[in-house]
Amino acid sequence: MAETAAETEAVIAAVRTHHAAMSDTLAGHTEAVARAADDRQRAAALSALVAYLRGEVLVHAAAEESTIYAAAAPLAPSLVEALELEHRDLAEQVQGLARTAAGATPPAALPLAMAAAAVLAVFRVHAAKENDVVLPLVAAAGQPLRPLLGEMERAFAAGLAAAASA
Ligand SMILES: [Fe+2]
Ligand SMILES: [Fe+2]
Repeated sequence: MAETAAETEAVIAAVRTHHAAMSDTLAGHTEAVARAADDRQRAAALSALVAYLRGEVLVHAAAEESTIYAAAAPLAPSLVEALELEHRDLAEQVQGLARTAAGATPPAALPLAMAAAAVLAVFRVHAAKENDVVLPLVAAAGQPLRPLLGEMERAFAAGLAAAASA
């Protein structure tokens, strides 16, 4: 079924909006980590950041891999491989933050603020590639984006439910 250019644009806009919302939320957590006045505040901000990354950002990444990336892989295998490496990198950074959060000693302020800012920076540039390169590429190959977004939203919702019950 053909999709009009306006429909394609609407899907890309919806993904862009979701990415921007995640980026803003992530920036808020990153700022809270950086601005924490003491160890207690820092620990609370860090655990909120880790919970958000695990509960939403990594769930989103997994949902993308099984839907949008699967559609893009035959068109641009190296691009998808590179984006998957970025997902792996994000997951490793989240694990590092989680280890810091679980550590016996309070995290040092500056290294923690830098680590949080690094996650945000990777996320932003990664999401821009999805918005501006991957989705237009899939659309240009004639694949309707609306059903793909629907699949991704279902995978995301299933992932959120699984994360909530874990
Ligand atoms: Fe992604
Ligand atoms: Fe994404």
